Order: sequence, then C-alpha cells, then structure tokens
Amino acid sequence: MYLIVRKEQLNKTVFSMDIEAPLVARSARPGQFIILRVDEEGERIPLTISDTDREHGTVRIIFAAVGATTLRLSRLNEGDSLRDFAGPLGMPTKLEGIKNACVIGGGVGCAIALPIAKELARGGASVDSIVGFRSSELVILENEFRAASDSFVLVTDDGSRGERGNVTLPLDMILAKGKKYDMIYVIGSLVMMKFVTETAKKYGIPCTVSMNPIMIDGTGMCGGCRLTLNRNGKRVTSFACVEGPDYNGYEVDFDEAISRSTMYREFERHAYERECNLFGKVSENG
Ligand code: FES
Repeated sequence: MYLIVRKEQLNKTVFSMDIEAPLVARSARPGQFIILRVDEEGERIPLTISDTDREHGTVRIIFAAVGATTLRLSRLNEGDSLRDFAGPLGMPTKLEGIKNACVIGGGVGCAIALPIAKELARGGASVDSIVGFRSSELVILENEFRAASDSFVLVTDDGSRGERGNVTLPLDMILAKGKKYDMIYVIGSLVMMKFVTETAKKYGIPCTVSMNPIMIDGTGMCGGCRLTLNRNGKRVTSFACVEGPDYNGYEVDFDEAISRSTMYREFERHAYERECNLFGKVSENG
C-alpha cells in the first residue's frame, strides 16, 4: 500500500498528491510515469511523475479528476493509501546537451512540463516557458514555472489571464523573430501538440512531444498504447509505455492518435457518470 502524505487542490478539477514510494522516488527521472490502482477492483491508470523528493521518499502526481478513476482518486485524502503504484515506467525525457529550450505546457500537461523546465534550469540551460489554459481559474503551477524559466508567457483561450489565444501564437511570434532553440518540449492535448509540432517544423526546430495513449499493462505486452510513427519514409509501430512517452513530434501520426484516443470515450463517460451518481462530483473547494 502507498500512503498519501500530502494532498492539494490546484484548481476546481486538478489535484496534487505526494505519495510515499521511496523506490520510485529514488530512480524516477523527468518524463517517466507510474501506473496506479486506487483499490483492488480499480482500473490501472498511467500518470506522469511531476516531481520526486528522494530524501522523504515521495513522488508527486498531478491529475485532473475527469474520468471515473481520477474522480475516485481525488476523493482520497492524506492518510489514505493506494493499492498499487508501479514505476518508474517509460523512458526519461532526453535533456543531455540541451542549452536553450522552449518548454510548453497546456492545462494539466503543465504538471509534466514543469519537471522538464526545472531539470533543464538545474543543468544551466536557458528555458523559455509558454503555458496555456482555458481560463484564469484553471491556471496551475504559475509560480513554479516562473522560478524555473528565463522568460514566461501565459495564455488563456478566453483572455481572462495573460494573452488571449493558444500557445502556438507566442511560439510563432518568438520563432518569427529568429529565436533558435536546441529543442521545443510540448506536453498537452494531442491537438495542441500537433499544432506546436507544425509550428516548430515551419522554423526547423526539433520538437519533443509527450504521448499519453490508452495504457493497460505498461509493459509492452498488450498493445493498448500503440502509436504509428512516420520514420524514414516508413510507417513504424511504437509502444508508448516502453519506447515513450516522449517522441519526435515530426514523426508522430497525430491524426491516428487522436482517433484512437476517442475509442473508449463512451465507455469512460458511463463509468464517470456512474461514479458521480454514487459519490457526487468534485467539490470546488477540495
Ligand atoms: Fe500495454 Fe503499452 S500499455 S503495450
């Protein structure tokens, strides 16, 4: 069992939890993820590691309570325990040799982008960050991003905080002025990552995306996390749980990934509604 030692509600649907898991904390690197089960009957869900505290043996996860399992997870409190917490899984984000990066996060994807920005800054790289949210009340981790960044741009879809628009607009403006990066790292919705990749490609800047497909076993056996890459003129299958979650955005078949991501939407909607009917929705006050 894995103890929840700290819980914080970051906005009306996003939660941060520190989980006691010393072995995971000791070896986890930015970009890797865990697979957890809330209880014996629970489904297995992957969540990317947001931070680790090796001294205290804890792992920070940040998640949006938008599905049946994340809703159930959000109802647990400090002192409760999780049934399973397996990891670290997947390949760490490649940060070696990067001196000048742009780190882009969208919504709860900022929880994955932040450790990348922090690790790059710790290694002496120059980091420009761009974060995007639907509106002001959904903004998370702003101060931590500012602390890890040489420059910071915040955008919201409705203009209620920062610039109005999406993350590709400031990125395009920065790149149009001639700025060069060793790498752009982007984590957010598939649609957002697709358009950031297209913008990066327009200026010839490499772009790393973090894919979060459906995962079941997390070991490369079930095929649930299958992606198609266009590599050297060939269509190549990749399993995100073992070869990802990071990919060269230029290679990813985003349209197929978007289509596959909707496969279980109806099933998930029923499960979420059943969970809401049993226990109610997320409280906006935690
Ligand atoms: Fe089963 Fe990746 S989750 S192969």
